[in-house]
Amino acid sequence: MISVERLQKVIANSGYCSRRKAEELIIAGKVRVDNILITELGYKVKGNEMIMIDGKILTKDDKEYILLYKPRGVVTTTDDDKKRKTVLDLINTNKRVYPIGRLDYDTSGLLIITNDGNLTNLLLHPKNNIDKVYLAKISGILSGKEIKKLESGILLDDFKTSPCKVKVKKIDKKNMTSLVMITIHEGKNHQVKKMFSAINHDVIKLKREKIAFLDLQGLKPGEYRHLNIKEVKKLYALNNKNA
Ligand code: URA
Repeated sequence: MISVERLQKVIANSGYCSRRKAEELIIAGKVRVDNILITELGYKVKGNEMIMIDGKILTKDDKEYILLYKPRGVVTTTDDDKKRKTVLDLINTNKRVYPIGRLDYDTSGLLIITNDGNLTNLLLHPKNNIDKVYLAKISGILSGKEIKKLESGILLDDFKTSPCKVKVKKIDKKNMTSLVMITIHEGKNHQVKKMFSAINHDVIKLKREKIAFLDLQGLKPGEYRHLNIKEVKKLYALNNKNA
């Protein structure tokens, strides 16, 4: 069966503009389908037509943006030499996508997978100060002094972490463990584990809850969804905003 879709939806799905803006363009007489001017909003297309807007051919945006709830026990690479399961084994795509940054094998949580190099640079560049929020179960109980130390920046190998936020969510005095929310802005290898290790606390369990405004709502470990155009635009709007 050939699926037909409304012209404004096809334009919006291409990434050209919002559906409302596409409707305005159609009504304004700016859109042609196979060279025929279309001004009616209900017009349906099959997907193989040549759509022109303002005299320019509409090309399908081949960018893909996936938000994955990475489970534990999966590697964040495109190909693993030890033949372990990778994050790409969890998604269905025919595009050459790759993860932005890395979560450890035993870390779960939010991972963006894309083929958009510009977005990758934007989210990884420290100057953009993108919040990455982690929930860490750690050994022991943090003192006020240790929290201040973490928050003001810690020297790891040859690198000092930028100021971050730390919030103790729960303390288990019986087992001497704590649940701590930590918001950092860089993405160095094993950064959260190394930060806690530097003040003599082990990370027992780690989950990335958020990147900027994106969270894991509605997803279970191993599940994913595509970002919508609004979310992608909002991510692009973070460029330098927090600098
Ligand atoms: N910090 C870590 O230590 N591990 C991760 O997977 C992510 C951040």
